[in-house]
Amino acid sequence: MKKREFLKLGLLSFSAMTLSNKLGALEYYPNKSDKKWAVLYGTWCGSSRDAAIWISEGMDGIANVFDVREDPDLTVYDYVVVGGSIRGGQVSELLQKYLEKNREKISKKIRGLFAVCGNRMQPVGPEQVTALIDNHLAKLCGISNPVPLKVFLGRITYGLLDEESSKMIQGFNMPEYDNLKREDCLAFGKEILNTTKQIKSG
Ligand SMILES: Cc1cc2nc3c(=O)[nH]c(=O)nc-3n(C[C@H](O)[C@H](O)[C@H](O)COP(=O)(O)O)c2cc1C
Repeated sequence: MKKREFLKLGLLSFSAMTLSNKLGALEYYPNKSDKKWAVLYGTWCGSSRDAAIWISEGMDGIANVFDVREDPDLTVYDYVVVGGSIRGGQVSELLQKYLEKNREKISKKIRGLFAVCGNRMQPVGPEQVTALIDNHLAKLCGISNPVPLKVFLGRITYGLLDEESSKMIQGFNMPEYDNLKREDCLAFGKEILNTTKQIKSG
């Protein structure tokens, strides 16, 4: 091999290495943490994804955020927050199956639970927390200890709905709406972090 070709090849493999290191660094961890946190969500049209990312932001960005469709291995995390959007009173089948399969591995790590629902655009009260979290998500997760819980109001975007869901929603004369608030999600992230710190130091 000529000297020039050798140098060119070396330069190319060096650039490839730099690029792959950069790709690894694309994960969004603005701050370091002594504990590894994950937020897992199940969504159809994205409201729970946004809630999960904003919850992580409320935790100063220390949590890694996963869509349940990624089927993440959460055994490497110390603490986990779980949440999902609601259809027909339940989180998605995929999230239900994931939690059933991984319950043993993650139940003791769970430090927060949330649901995102429409609640016919009415404010959320204790009944929704009982129905969607205490009697549903908390059972799926197999948790017995009290952890911070939150039911957020979500949103409907017609253009994102499949045909069947679109007909159902329009059959209820439900307009498009957006009631998910970033500040509520940030506050919930802070609450989770503070509660966990208090338990550790208490
Ligand atoms: C087909 C369908 C069924 C729904 N069922 C419920 C329900 O049972 N209870 C509720 O409070 N909200 C219900 N909603 C409202 C959603 O929970 C809310 O719009 C949520 O933000 C949607 O999350 P997504 O963006 O992940 O789809 C339903 C919405 C759709 C489209």
